[in-house]
This record gives sequence, C-alpha cells and structure tokens, in this order.
Amino acid sequence: MPTVYLSRRVPDRVRRELEHDFELILHDSETPPTRAELLARAAGMDGLVTMLTDRVDDELLDAAGSQLRAVANYAVGFDNVDVEACTGHGVVASNTPDVLTGATAELTMTLILALVRRVAEGDRFVRAGTPWIWAPTMMLGTGLSGKTLGIVGLGRIGLEVARLGTAFGMRAVYTDEAGPRDVPYAFTSFERVLVEADVISLHTPLTPATRHLVGAAELETMKATAYLVNSSRGPVIDEEALAEALATGQIAGAALDVFEREPAVTARLLELDNVVLVPHLGSATGEVRDAMGMLCVEALRSILLAGVAPPNALNPEALQPTAAANG
Ligand code: DGY
Repeated sequence: MPTVYLSRRVPDRVRRELEHDFELILHDSETPPTRAELLARAAGMDGLVTMLTDRVDDELLDAAGSQLRAVANYAVGFDNVDVEACTGHGVVASNTPDVLTGATAELTMTLILALVRRVAEGDRFVRAGTPWIWAPTMMLGTGLSGKTLGIVGLGRIGLEVARLGTAFGMRAVYTDEAGPRDVPYAFTSFERVLVEADVISLHTPLTPATRHLVGAAELETMKATAYLVNSSRGPVIDEEALAEALATGQIAGAALDVFEREPAVTARLLELDNVVLVPHLGSATGEVRDAMGMLCVEALRSILLAGVAPPNALNPEALQPTAAANG
C-alpha cells in the first residue's frame, strides 16, 4: 500500500477511507505538527494531506523524498502550496474546489448580517448584563435592501455571495482580475468598488498582487458608512490600517473570518465594537469538511493507485507513472 501522511485530525469517515487504501501516518491533533515534525514525518511518504497552515515548498518536497507523488491540500485556497515546486518534483498537487462554495458564501452573508445588524455587539451587550429596554433609537443598524454589494474577486464563492446578496435586495457590482464576465452583475474597477459599495466582500486568492490589497489608502476612499468583510485570506487586508480606520470611524465596520497573522489577531481589533471576528469558519460545516476530505482521498487514489491526475489537480502535467499504477 502507498504511504500517506495526514497532518491533522480529520472527520472519521475521511480517516477511515484513507486507512482503507493507504498506510496512514496520522498527526492526530487539532493543532499542526511543528515544521521539524512535518519535515521528518513526510520523509519516505508517497502522498501527503496538507492543511492551509502547512507550507508545501522545496524544503518539504526535498524532505519527503523523490518517491513522493501527491500532495492533497485540504482547502480550496492553495497559497501555502508552491505549485511550481511541486511540478519540479514530479508531485501532483490538488485542492478542494466547489464543495465549500455554498458554506463559505453562507458564512459571508452571516458576517454581513451580523455586522450591519450589530448581532455580535448585541450579544456581548446582553451577556454583560447591561440594563436596557426597547427604545426607538436603541442599537440601530443598517438594512441591506437597496445597498450596493461590492464583490472583489468573482470566483465561485464571490459569485454565490453576489447571488445571495441580490436575494436580500442588494445591487451587486464586482471587480475581477480576469475582467468582465457574462453575469447579471455590473463589472467595475476596484477603485469604483471602493468608492461606491456599501458592503465590500473580499473573495480574491492570496497572491503577491493581492497582499494588502486593502490598506490605509483604500480604506480612506471607502464611504464612512461602508462595511468591509473578508472571508478569503487574512493578508489581503492590512490589519493595522483596518484597526485605525475602524477606531477613527473612517468606515462603519468590518467582519473578519481570516487574519493577517492567523491565528493571532491585531490587538486593537479586540477592543472595537464595530468589528465581528470569527475563527476561519468559512467551510466549517460537518458535511463540507467531509466532502473536502473525500476530495483529498479521491485525489490520492487517482494519483497513487490509478496513475491518473484527478479533476482537481492544480498541476496535472506533473503526473508521473507510479509503480502501483503500472501494476
Ligand atoms: C479554504 O478552503 O481555502 C478555506 O479557507 C478553508 O476551508
């Protein structure tokens, strides 16, 4: 049986499926292995299942050894994977597209609603035992109907958030590196999205070009009544600049599912009431985490047992014939 190292505890079904077809070495914990442990455990493996917190680069690929054929990344985002390095090592990398689109879009809408209707703030307020009674002016938020939703990055998730936002009566506009698409939403420049949108939702992958895409200058051009939501990758926002913009009322609020130095959070944000903070929950439903795991299992089966690149391969050209596949 091919050997596979799995760098985190996963849903039972996924572990069982891996154990069925592979000799599984499991890091059975909700926290990651140290880098040294990851490098040591990868040695001699045919396949790896990595998390978004594991850096897959030349160092890891070298440590694994030349028999390594597959890296299944348990996430749709793959900024932690140096795909070129994988190709150079003859390793096929895969990710987990599609299965988490709905869950991540739902979480994004949850954040938008929690933000504009002050849900997290209200919850803290009640729990603190603050005296209150219903009043016409108490804890007022903002409605979504008629507001402009600015989508930055119209991939699968961005598209679904646009659809959901529209169902709440919002007008969706979008900007995307790839340019206009045949969708019922208006394409506009990033600069116009910043100026026009009442809610800006980030759905761009993390690349050198999108690191700190939203910083002090961009926050300054947003409306004072606007909200910023990020369920993509933390470093897309300059978190210090955001804290300053929120503290000074330059924008109305923000909601973050992801953080620049995850899991650390910029301390100033913790003091502010106009920001909603959740711990990278975009794809966190039981069904979706199972489905993501099964995409990893199927990718490993395809590469290591059948010698075929799976549909979710990031670099199918890296496929090399395996002894197992050759029978
Ligand atoms: C991803 O898949 O990239 C998410 O950030 C975690 O599910």
